[in-house]
Amino acid sequence: MSRIIIVSNRLPLKAQKKEGNITLEPSEGGLATGLGSVYKQGDNLWIGWPGLPLEEEQDQEYVREALLKENMQPVFLTETEVKEYYEGFSNETLWPTFHYFSQYAIYEQQLWEAYVAVNQKFCEEIIKFAQPEDTIWVHDYQLLLLPQLIREKLPGVSIGFFQHIPFPSFEIFRLLPWRREIIQGMLGADLIGFHTYDDMRHFLSSANRLLGYSNLHGLIETGRRAVLIDAFPMGIDYEKYATLASAKETIRIADEFRAAIGTQRIIISIDRLDYSKGIPNRLSAFELFLKRYPEFQEKVSLVMIVVPSRDTVEKYKRLKEEIDELVGRINSSYRTISWNPIQYFYRSFPLNEISAFYRLADVGLVTPMRDGMNLVSKEYIASKYDQKGVLILSEMAGAAQELSDAIQINPNNIVQMADAIHEALILPEEEQIAQMNAMQTLIKTYDIHQWVKVFMDRLSYVKIKQQSYLTD
Ligand code: G6P
Repeated sequence: MSRIIIVSNRLPLKAQKKEGNITLEPSEGGLATGLGSVYKQGDNLWIGWPGLPLEEEQDQEYVREALLKENMQPVFLTETEVKEYYEGFSNETLWPTFHYFSQYAIYEQQLWEAYVAVNQKFCEEIIKFAQPEDTIWVHDYQLLLLPQLIREKLPGVSIGFFQHIPFPSFEIFRLLPWRREIIQGMLGADLIGFHTYDDMRHFLSSANRLLGYSNLHGLIETGRRAVLIDAFPMGIDYEKYATLASAKETIRIADEFRAAIGTQRIIISIDRLDYSKGIPNRLSAFELFLKRYPEFQEKVSLVMIVVPSRDTVEKYKRLKEEIDELVGRINSSYRTISWNPIQYFYRSFPLNEISAFYRLADVGLVTPMRDGMNLVSKEYIASKYDQKGVLILSEMAGAAQELSDAIQINPNNIVQMADAIHEALILPEEEQIAQMNAMQTLIKTYDIHQWVKVFMDRLSYVKIKQQSYLTD
């Protein structure tokens, strides 16, 4: 029977080693949480890195067995591979470039070579399990070369590729010394998906400018094989978030939080610690809001959850210091004995506590400098059980293309953001409900299940189309 093999750098479970004991815990980030409901079906399998450089055979065996029970297969990386392929090329070359922070990118041949080698390592692991009739679904920027590597080993197999982060305009992408190899690697897939139409257009333009491929309605012909490029805005498991927000336990936690916070209105912000998320700008905007609208002092708190991420990468360490400093400065300038303007947490929270925060929050503040999609904005909407609440959303997030009923801002415009916070807090209830209702209807329809279905249908369509090319 054919099945879907999902492949991503990070598995949805990560291994942790504490005092010699290994445990498995949920991973952070949109990809891991988003696809959680898919891989568990039937015989499907998820192949990826369990997030620790485990080099001892005994540890590897333990993790392999534990993951197998969850339909997962690990690809173990050595410490050097983690340094060069993951922290290095993936997160210090590709991540900044693709998020339009190319001034942060480093270009080093040794990191590139490690990236090639680890993509090959993933390929070897996949071909141990994949049958020609399986569908292999590769995810994200850490594995851009993998589609072509698999194609060379299993020429007829169905390969889908989905990119969860933006694809930059050609003028940015061309800065990469290995730009041609990257496009070639991706084109090994039958279907390449992006969150937005703009990302798709940027990819098509790079394929054309670098390799001379033209396209017809997103279909590129590479020799005798056609590859389709299309946009698939990722959804969330709407029912899961909506049900959780109204669960008894969530209401109990929310009551507890409310009692601790007091009567203040709540603005929620949740992100991984990342410069693409625009956290310092958001803090500056909140500070300006307090200054411009002093009547809201002691009446509003910003609950800011920053989830630790990639903390061995230098840029992330420095960002952490910058945020700590900013929060300290704002809190010390504005706080009173009974009020802290910013409730800052540098850790992750269990999902039911996140849901309680979403439930309580009058405003969801999502202001990335650049984001492939941003699922937090959708989770906030799905959790608004009474439809009261306002979403402020950066126009640089992929989600902004769909969520036109949110208050949209430019994250570089601090004044606009400060005013948007004010606007959100004074928005009449009927308007909040009307906006929330429109956004809920949309993300309920295009949820994660629909997203997977549309992607898979499209992949089957390309396979059929390829057959007709061959018989023409
Ligand atoms: C984003 C990326 C994912 C990544 C996640 C967490 O959502 O698109 O590919 O897994 O961030 O980052 P990490 O480096 O911890 O895997």
